[in-house]
Amino acid sequence: MTLTTASFDFVADLVRRRSAIQLDQGKEYLVESRLAPLARRAGLGVDEYVRAVRAGRSEHDLDLVVEALTTNETSWFRDGAPFVALRQHLVPTLMEGPIPASGLRVWSAACSTGQEPYSIAMTLADVLPASVRVEILATDLSEQVLARARAGRYSQLEMDRGLPTAMRARHFRADGAEWCISDELRAAVRYQRHNLLDAPPAGPPFDLVFLRNVLIYFDLTTKQQILSRVHRVLRPGGFLVLGAAETTIGVDDGWARLALGSGSVYRPVARTAPRTSDVPLVPSPFTAKPGGLR
Ligand SMILES: C[S@@+](CC[C@H](N)C(=O)[O-])C[C@H]1O[C@@H](n2cnc3c(N)ncnc32)[C@H](O)[C@@H]1O
Repeated sequence: MTLTTASFDFVADLVRRRSAIQLDQGKEYLVESRLAPLARRAGLGVDEYVRAVRAGRSEHDLDLVVEALTTNETSWFRDGAPFVALRQHLVPTLMEGPIPASGLRVWSAACSTGQEPYSIAMTLADVLPASVRVEILATDLSEQVLARARAGRYSQLEMDRGLPTAMRARHFRADGAEWCISDELRAAVRYQRHNLLDAPPAGPPFDLVFLRNVLIYFDLTTKQQILSRVHRVLRPGGFLVLGAAETTIGVDDGWARLALGSGSVYRPVARTAPRTSDVPLVPSPFTAKPGGLR
């Protein structure tokens, strides 16, 4: 049985509340195809499965539905330009100023299966003096992608997506049909579950924030709220790196765009007017009471 309107509306509302991902009318095929494996595992059709999840109200099942609707597409050194900028401009610029004794702090937000934070770690290993300490915090909404990132094991197909041979030789070892990341690189990245709708991770300000290929899924108000929170945790001389199809222009005036090579990065600047929309739009699933969803 195909997905009924009531089931589609339930899933779209659940996903919007818990992740801010917009599933507009017309995305029924996407919901069906993403939920099909979960439904099959439960021995149900997709519509039956959604009705069972809705009736059961198990937090675990609700999370599985939301995670199934996230898009986890990623690759090594994705788009090239941000990592060239990191190597040639961002690190040298940061190194011109005083580096805190605690070292450089980097946040890879919405990191998916780890290719982005590990690409950052590989780049920093090349360009930073060994005396500079680095903390790379990598976060995502999805526990499933975080488990894969922590494991640091990749198929040949995944390895072939953007990883230079020299980097593979230096940082990976073959293990059966998979490639295993070095212990050193794995230890350089700390993974933590984090929803971009929630307050940013605690701790000293970040020097670099990679927030790539995730704002595209959100509406304007959500983008503004997230950029505003990132603004608060990025130190004044720091850099924000967005995806190739993303920008702060026309969204949040608290950023100066800096064109670098074929891409751009953003630096926090004083806003012309204080933000009024800096409050959570969507109740966090981690703070919402179980059963609080309809
Ligand atoms: C397309 S991937 C981008 C991965 C990586 N940043 C890159 O550019 O290759 C988008 C990621 O955003 C995560 N995501 C979606 N909504 C989120 C939210 N509200 N909070 C945190 N992560 C979220 C998804 O789980 C997914 O792993």
